[in-house]
Amino acid sequence: MPPIYLDYNASTPIDPAVADAMRLFLDGAFGNPSSGHWASAPAKAALEHARDQVAALLGASPDEIVFTSGGSEANNLAIKGTFLALRHKGEHIVTTAVEHPAVLAPCRFLERLGATVTVLPVDGTGRVDPDDVHRAITPRTILISVMHANNEVGTIQPIAEIAAIARDHGVRFHTDAAQSIGKIATRVDTLGVDLLTIAGHKLYAPKGVGALYVRRGVELESLIHGAGHEHGRRAGTESALLAAGLGTACALAQDLAQMERVRALRDRFWQALRNRFGDRVLLNGHLNHRLPNTLNVSFVGKVGADILAQLDGVAASTGSACHSGRVELSPVLAAMGVPERVGMGAFRFSLGRQSTDAEIDEVVARLANVPALAA
Ligand SMILES: Cc1ncc(COP(=O)(O)O)c(C=O)c1O
Repeated sequence: MPPIYLDYNASTPIDPAVADAMRLFLDGAFGNPSSGHWASAPAKAALEHARDQVAALLGASPDEIVFTSGGSEANNLAIKGTFLALRHKGEHIVTTAVEHPAVLAPCRFLERLGATVTVLPVDGTGRVDPDDVHRAITPRTILISVMHANNEVGTIQPIAEIAAIARDHGVRFHTDAAQSIGKIATRVDTLGVDLLTIAGHKLYAPKGVGALYVRRGVELESLIHGAGHEHGRRAGTESALLAAGLGTACALAQDLAQMERVRALRDRFWQALRNRFGDRVLLNGHLNHRLPNTLNVSFVGKVGADILAQLDGVAASTGSACHSGRVELSPVLAAMGVPERVGMGAFRFSLGRQSTDAEIDEVVARLANVPALAA
């Protein structure tokens, strides 16, 4: 059996159609999209076509899309850019304990510049309570940032409800949709968000490209100053190569029906684990409000990394990390209140377009053969 990849939340392979769309810019179309002559034409056209494709997936206008180097930059632009643009109005930011470091670290950085940050707790399934968001808002609140879906456990947040609260209070609302794009619907008007983050490499596009949706009229300071690229919101000559890849990936992601096959496969996987291990395996995250591709499970009383080490050739993630000889729970599982005995044995299996029944059967069989998991 060839190696098995069940870590699509970490990164996805580049889709062949995405690679095809990029080829023109590897094979000679090198012009600067901002130039005014023949050599710029293919790059300019591809860039604007890609912007249309990203906007179409989100139900947005092309002028609301800013290309970035990825999800981390988009989150930094949303959070720092809002703070820098609005700090005359207030300095308070609300976020949650289960955000990706690309949200939490910019918030921590802004504290050094005078921001105050409220980090909201989550329940045992990883969900934030919209009432907690409501209660956290003060007259000084300028931004709420709550991720759409969690990268580790897949839990989906009540974004539309939180957005309505933010709107009622005149507070900007950002969601990190790096994990939800292409897996569930992400139309910005249904979600009600002002700012939304996309990361290309979670979406069958290359690493090093992403985008930030910025609702028209939303004030944002640029983090990279220079010539007026991206409507003055992100200086630097745009990469038509990477934009074409992201645009094509977004066009492919319009078809959410393909995720239903992945969901069925994921559910069959979970059922097979329950059949084999019974109550010795537990589900982490929300049973229903969860990404269709994500299965985070705990082998109670075991250490995930030890088990993974015995699954030769299987790519997956564990929910604990070894720091200075001590096994530590991931901050997400810790925030969910998952007990140590359970969290230490956590595994994230994340499936994708190329995942097959045979791979799932093989992983279940290999887990059944791991001595530490014998009944
Ligand atoms: C939820 C979430 N946000 C942001 C990022 C960062 O994206 P990038 O790797 O494109 O910087 C990731 C990637 O792991 C993620 O899972």
